[in-house]
Amino acid sequence: MILSLFCASLLLAAGSNASPCKLQSGNWTSSSTTGAKAALNRDGHGSAAINQLGIQAKSQESALPSSTSASNPGPSLTASGSSGSSGGSGSSTSGGSGTSDISGSLTPASGSCPQGFLNTVFNTNAGQSSGFPSATWNALTEYGIDSWIGFSLETLDKQSDYDLSATQNSQLSGAFNKAQIPIVMDHTYIQSAVAMLASNPPPYLELYNEPDFSFDGLTLTEDPAPSASDLATILNAPHPNTKFISPALMDANGPWLGQFFQACNGCIEHIDVIALHVYNPDPQGVLDQITQLYATWNKTIWITELSPATSGCDMSPSTMASTYINVLIPEILKLPYVEKIFWNSGESDSTPINGAPASCSPSLTNPDGSSTAVLQALGAACGISPSTATS
Ligand SMILES: *[C@@H]1O[C@H](CO)[C@@H](O)[C@H](O)[C@H]1NC(C)=O
Ligand SMILES: *[C@@H]1O[C@H](CO)[C@@H](O)[C@H](O)[C@H]1NC(C)=O
Repeated sequence: MILSLFCASLLLAAGSNASPCKLQSGNWTSSSTTGAKAALNRDGHGSAAINQLGIQAKSQESALPSSTSASNPGPSLTASGSSGSSGGSGSSTSGGSGTSDISGSLTPASGSCPQGFLNTVFNTNAGQSSGFPSATWNALTEYGIDSWIGFSLETLDKQSDYDLSATQNSQLSGAFNKAQIPIVMDHTYIQSAVAMLASNPPPYLELYNEPDFSFDGLTLTEDPAPSASDLATILNAPHPNTKFISPALMDANGPWLGQFFQACNGCIEHIDVIALHVYNPDPQGVLDQITQLYATWNKTIWITELSPATSGCDMSPSTMASTYINVLIPEILKLPYVEKIFWNSGESDSTPINGAPASCSPSLTNPDGSSTAVLQALGAACGISPSTATS
């Protein structure tokens, strides 16, 4: 495990796709390396617990640029007692305003959510599931999941810390790879990202993952001013086919983003979407974070990490379906500026997340790739079930 952690640091520092660690640490699917693999999840799991405790709640004023004064449309949960009525019936569950700042062409999919609204996240332990990626992706798309975020700029077959066997690698192709939204993880990937924009431009590119937080000491933290200077290389590169997602902060409503935009000479004009990570078992708390972020930036929001898993979560997956998803999703759908949500996680994840009890599992799929009650509820909240889904 120490070797594995050491290697992980090396890989991250070098921004390398090379895989010396596999040789040294042996079989990463063996249980003896579970801790190391958990540590390699390059996600917001650790951070969410901090959000949940409210340790970093404020400093909003310092984050406010002087020019923004958007009013807060102020959703409320007045309808929450009755809004969870979809129950998989396929009936309309929302006002479903499909408007978007980014694209006027979004149309309702087979369900009542705008096309592309439902998305997911694959963490670095996804490769442990026998059903990943093929069976997993089949189930997810059946329930309306459109695209996914991995903690990678590269496709997963080039990403050693996803630990996919050769067999699984061969399944990584076509629609699955196309559905990935790449992330420039940190400054070590700037040049690769510029090359990608020139040679193989993705429709969307996320610029940094939680630069305000080091996941288990493994991911890099980046200060706002140097980040502005580093990311200018990407922001100034020709990118006619690519839209940019803002740095996704551990604490999106904290000071980092404001300091970044102050330092970057108006680069906010080149940012199409503001990212939000939020882990909170209280739907109203999630909505508060969303509306605060919109009030600050007046921009389209993608919730690029979402789940109730924190130490404060005491839901089973079925309770999560009825008291969280069925309440929260219809309320988010009333906010026309929230274009996409990414539920974490899409894979079967038995790793305790954010200190959440094991009973609070947000996994959308089982190890064999079949759907969980959570995925079924997410689809139902959008009026999608496999019998109504068109593909
Ligand atoms: C690696 O782990 C897998 C799954 O537990 C097991 O089937 C395989 O035998 C292991 N290989 C080695 C070399 O330990
Ligand atoms: C918010 O952005 C829209 C364009 O997306 C603009 O029309 C509107 O004036 C902005 N509101 C404020 C308060 O800046």
